[in-house]
Amino acid sequence: MKFFVDTADVAEIKSLAASGLLDGVTTNPSLIAKSGRPMLEVIREIADVVPGPVSAEVTATDHTTMMKEAHKLHAIGRGRNDNITIKVPLTPDGLRTCKTLAGEGVMVNVTLCFSAAQAILAAKAGASFISPFIGRLDDIGEDGMVLIDDIVQIYRNYPAFKTEVLAASIRHPMHVVDAAKIGAHVVTVPPNILRMLFNHPLTDKGLDAFLADWKKTGQSIL
Ligand code: G3P
Repeated sequence: MKFFVDTADVAEIKSLAASGLLDGVTTNPSLIAKSGRPMLEVIREIADVVPGPVSAEVTATDHTTMMKEAHKLHAIGRGRNDNITIKVPLTPDGLRTCKTLAGEGVMVNVTLCFSAAQAILAAKAGASFISPFIGRLDDIGEDGMVLIDDIVQIYRNYPAFKTEVLAASIRHPMHVVDAAKIGAHVVTVPPNILRMLFNHPLTDKGLDAFLADWKKTGQSIL
């Protein structure tokens, strides 16, 4: 399972990238707004830090302008890690843009997916990633994980579909575990939740005991 971090906070990304466990980054217009920084600058910095796919989202809603924005965003990665993935919304114009960009060899992440039918369309449009939003479905009383399960099953039926299921809108560590059990290819996780994955009170307690016992021996490995 690949781990992406869902943030536009470059300091957080640098810190998490140091773990060696980060495979990519996803951003969206809300996360860019939260950073309070110019989008192109933020994306450039992230693309330098993380060699894996860095999703940068278009903000136009019509195909022609989406294509212009996509080319500008994609060019940021050129001469660097060439890792900018264009994020488009799951609309008719977004999917048309996806199809065109995929034909140009550009990786596309289709976002704001809330149904299996939408995910089928994204795969047919040649998306590299489909982003079903688990948490936002849970928020309205639906079970977001059922959608992940449905999409993974459907894609498995059609080996010609090369789209990876990118579980998004993650609210807690069990979302990550459940998505992994189902076989989602990627999970994009906010930094605070990514850090939670490391923690277990018995790990802390056990380490304290090991270190206390080790100290009593008076030994040193180095
Ligand atoms: O980046 C897309 C997605 O992960 C957003 O999550 O928490 O705003 O529903 P959230």
